[in-house]
Amino acid sequence: MTPTELSDPRLLGRAVKRIVYDADTIARRVRELGAEITQAYPEGNLVVLGLLKGSFIFLSDLVREIRRPIHVDFLVASSYGDAMESSGSVRLLYDPETVLEGKHILLVEDIIDSGRTLARLVDVLSTRNPRSLEICALLHKHIATELKVPARYVGFDAPHEFLVGYGLDHAENFRHIPFIASLQ
Ligand code: IMP
Ligand code: MG
Repeated sequence: MTPTELSDPRLLGRAVKRIVYDADTIARRVRELGAEITQAYPEGNLVVLGLLKGSFIFLSDLVREIRRPIHVDFLVASSYGDAMESSGSVRLLYDPETVLEGKHILLVEDIIDSGRTLARLVDVLSTRNPRSLEICALLHKHIATELKVPARYVGFDAPHEFLVGYGLDHAENFRHIPFIASLQ
């Protein structure tokens, strides 16, 4: 999208302020993360668990950069609704059917803000006795205070702005734009 298209509210419903990570920058970083993850798991069963909906584009690009056998499954937790601030309540709406016991779990998240979503999910998944449990987040705002397990794989240290695109939404819009932009 060109800058003119970005500011045309007929295309996106609302103008975005600026592009924070363009498509090439994201693709390069996702390739690096895929290579890092491939190296980190020389053996054992690896389940890559994408947290929906925000991780759907990141996850689909990331798994294609992982060069070892994996199982892909998903988790659905409740989100912010239409607000730009974390409400603090997290509910599991879909639980993966894959058996997690004895397996390496890599939880894939779009962005870590307060860390509440992940803190809750880490608690739930730990009770399934996985062999290991690690977090991969495309973006990390580094304001999380509630996360006991630090994210092992992070794409970018994100600015403290509300970001959209590449899976991230505001009121469900913008997930489809192929780069990451700031709304503020
Ligand atoms: P947390 O529980 O506060 O860490 O929030 C994590 C979830 O909130 C993410 O998975 C996103 O769905 C959403 N979120 C947090 N920050 C942003 C943002 O800047 N843009 C879009 N969604 C966000
Ligand atoms: Mg969201």
